Parts: sequence; structure tokens; C-alpha cells
Amino acid sequence: MATDETITPKVSFSAEPIDRSRVDALVIPVLEGEKHDRGPAFAALDRALDGWLNELVQDQGFRAKACCVLSVPAPGGSTAKRYVLVGLGPAAKVDTSVIRRAHAKAVRYLAPGGQSVAIPLPGPEGSQWLGAAIEGLALGSYSFTKYRGASDDPPAEVRRILVHTSRRDETFDRAVREAQVLSSATCWARDLVNEPPGSMTPAHIAAQARRLERRPGLKVRVFGRRELERRAMGGILGVAAGSDAEPKLIHVDYRPSGRISKSIALVGKGVTFDSGGLSLKPAASMMTMKCDMAGAAAVLAAVHAASQLKLPIRVHAIVPAAENLPGPRATKPGDVLTISNGKTVEVLNTDAEGRLLLADALTYADSLRVDEVVDLATLTGACVIALGNDVAAVYSRPPELAAALRRAGEAEGEPLWEMPLVEAYKKELKSEVADLKNIGGRYAGSITAALFLAEFVKNERWAHLDIAGPAFAESLPELGPKGGTGFAVRTLVRYLIGLTDPGPSS
Ligand code: BES
Ligand code: MN
Ligand code: ZN
Repeated sequence: MATDETITPKVSFSAEPIDRSRVDALVIPVLEGEKHDRGPAFAALDRALDGWLNELVQDQGFRAKACCVLSVPAPGGSTAKRYVLVGLGPAAKVDTSVIRRAHAKAVRYLAPGGQSVAIPLPGPEGSQWLGAAIEGLALGSYSFTKYRGASDDPPAEVRRILVHTSRRDETFDRAVREAQVLSSATCWARDLVNEPPGSMTPAHIAAQARRLERRPGLKVRVFGRRELERRAMGGILGVAAGSDAEPKLIHVDYRPSGRISKSIALVGKGVTFDSGGLSLKPAASMMTMKCDMAGAAAVLAAVHAASQLKLPIRVHAIVPAAENLPGPRATKPGDVLTISNGKTVEVLNTDAEGRLLLADALTYADSLRVDEVVDLATLTGACVIALGNDVAAVYSRPPELAAALRRAGEAEGEPLWEMPLVEAYKKELKSEVADLKNIGGRYAGSITAALFLAEFVKNERWAHLDIAGPAFAESLPELGPKGGTGFAVRTLVRYLIGLTDPGPSS
């Protein structure tokens, strides 16, 4: 597991025609259209094969609908072993998201084990489409096999990608490098989420974060129970009270070596297991609750990626990590916790724990005096009810911040939808005995949770992503296997890249 064991496919370029490629498979994108309209890559290969390819798709009735695949052994005389034709749908609808999903899907049709593949330069959009294709192949190659028997077939996985193009410009190398870094960061976040909760304890996330210290520009600080007590972080301590596992506040600080254009704090919810505490969850809702540290995984992976890309931005990743269990000392409904900024919270439901530990972490982030604060959390089931499993909610002050994050998400195939911070709903959080209570009423649960967090951010620029839906996939997602998805890693890093050059990649 972890950073250095995550394999990123190696990428190289070739000016040779793709039909000469000596690889395990050619992955050929095909447009949905008439015979002469299936796209330049298809046409070129078909010409080299004297019309064999065209006959094949006719015979097989392959229509090239988006992400449909036709995988065949290569005909005699070919230098490649297999042809994987992958549909892109109609030309007018092709974008980076289709390219990424199509290439991820193609990986499932390779032979088991590590594979080399050749791809043509996908389409006219140059580097952006190329980046999306590489991301698709890399993300589609992910599997979590640590606890599986060796007897299983090894999953298909791309180790080497050869990009065939006669045209080469300097933006290609950067697009490839970004795609490699973004996808390996995503896969690391997936690993952290997929790790069983018995081993992925707060101390273990801290140990994983500490490994980042070996990288230039990264410093890691970890506060344990005594330091949390000294800092009066009653929210984190209150969530951790029912567990034997020591809570941690993890701070990874990336300081670029040259000019620094901006500073940002990324705060990620790190509840390593959410049983609900004394407000215990039903068994069925608890099954996926190892995913409750997906926000933490995302911010750690993002700061790692920022350092690998040497972005000229100071990035702080802050993770409050705790286990929410109903042990003998657990926080009880009716208890009052004091957050490190002095505000008191009446805990009426111990299952609304994320906001309690985030309150301390956001207070800490504010003390770093950064230009902006972005937090990520698997915060509410209500958000899943509102937006489903594919889309995350984004809230921001001012609204421009949400819009910029949304654009970054769109560029990376991670849909975000803006939700409103409805001031009028603040009254839902009024408590009779403390400054706030930790739950609102029956309605707008994602909004009242966001309003709660807002009480702990003084920074003028703040965004909150509720990733409860897309962080963990129970049915097969398009860009990888079931389980942790690494959602928002690519969005965050693409957003950071956009802050450094407000050009077309932002
Ligand atoms: N970790 C959960 C939210 C969650 C739900 C994440 C589904 C991923 C998938 C969070 O701590 C929680 O339990 N929220 C409660 C809040 C309620 C008690 C106000 C919820 O949404 O039910
Ligand atoms: Mn909970
Ligand atoms: Zn939770």
C-alpha cells in the first residue's frame, strides 16, 4: 500500500504508425457514425489492415456507443497481440469525460496481469484529451488485492503506455505528467479508504502521512491526545471518547522552494470508523463506514500531488482523525463539548460527529492565516439523498469559489453541484444550553451541517465539499472497481493547478 507501491503506468511517445506497435494491446477509440466517420485512429488502422477492421465491426454489429468495447485477438501478422476497440459515441458529444471513461473501461478487456498498450493521440483537442486517456487507463487499472488470495486471477493492469503520434508539442509532456501524478494520487487515496478499519486507525493514517515527510518541501506534524488537550480541542476529543484509539490531528505542510503565489488549507474529515457512537447506526448503514476518512485521504493525496508537481502554492493538509465508537467513556446525547475557538456545542446525536471534529480542525486551519480554506467530508446521508452517489455538494463563501471548484471537477470527471448556505436555516442549530447543537431538523441536513461548519471559519474564502455520495462505490463505478473512489483528489489538484496559471487547463 501507500505512495511508493502505487504503480503509475510509464508513458512514452512513438512516431511510428500504430499498427507497427509491439505491445500487448492496441486501444483504439471509435466514433459512433457511418463507415467513413469512425474517426482518424480507426481509419488509419483500417487502411493499414486493408479494411479488416471495418469488416470486423460490421460483422460484430459494433456501434461504438460510448464506452462499449469490442476486444479481439489481433489478426495474423500483427505486431500487437490484441485489439481493444472502445466506443466514444457520436463525435459531437465527445469530451474529456467520455475519453477518460472509455479508456478506463477498455482496461477491463485486457488479458489478466500487467500489460503494455498503445494508443493513438486521441482526437483534435491535443493535450487535454491525451491527459484524460492516460488517467482513464491508470484509474481503470486500479485494484485493491492486499487481502486477496494469490490463487485469484491477477486483475488487468496497464504498466506501459505508448502514444502514437506524428505531431508532438511541448504541452504533451506536461499533460502526461499531470495525468500520472493525479491518477496515482487518486489510487493512493483509494488504498487508504479500502484499508479495513481495524488497521486504518488514527495512528495509522498519521503514520501514512509521516511517510510524506521524505519528500522535498513537505513537513508533517502530528498532535496526539496530550497536545489536543493542551489546545482544548474538545470536538476531536469528544468524538474519540468512546474508543481506545488515540485521536490525532495531522498537519502536512507543503512549502514550495521558489516563489509562493498563494496559500491554502485543505481540511479532510478523518473518522476512521463511524459506528454512530451511542446514537448507534443500524448494521446496514455501518457496513461502508470505513469510508468516513475519505476526506482525509483526499487532502493527503492532494498535498502529495501538489509537491510532486512542484506547484508554487503553499498547501496545508489538515486531518482530524478519530474513531467514533460507543465505548464506556463515549460522549452521550446531551453532553456539551467546548471547541478550541471557545464555542460550546450540545451533542444531541453522536452520529453527527464529523462536524464536531471538523470544528476544531477548521479553527486550527484559520490560525494558519491562509488565503483560503477548503474542507472535504463524508458528512451527511442527507447529501446522498439530495444528489445521489455520483455527485458531491459544494458550498462556498463567496460563491465564485464553488464555481471554480466545479469547473475543476468538470475537467476531471468529478461532478460537483453547488448548494446554498441558507441563512434562515441557522435557527435549526440553536440550542437551549450551549452556543449550538450538533443537529438540525428533519429537512436540509446537508445544508444545516454546512452552516454548522461555517460557524468555525473566519477566513473570508471558504468552501465545503460534502462527498458522502461519491467517496465510496457500492455498485461498479466507471473509473475503477467498487470501494474507495479517491473522489475529489483530482478536482483539488486541478483547482490548485488553475490557481497557478489561469489558462485553459483551469
Ligand atoms: N459519516 C456519516 C455520513 C455518511 C452517510 C457518509 C452515508 C457516507 C455515506 C455521518 O457522520 C453521519 O452519520 N451523519 C448523520 C447526521 C445526522 C445524525 C444529523 C446522517 O447523515 O445520518
Ligand atoms: Mn456519523
Ligand atoms: Zn461520519
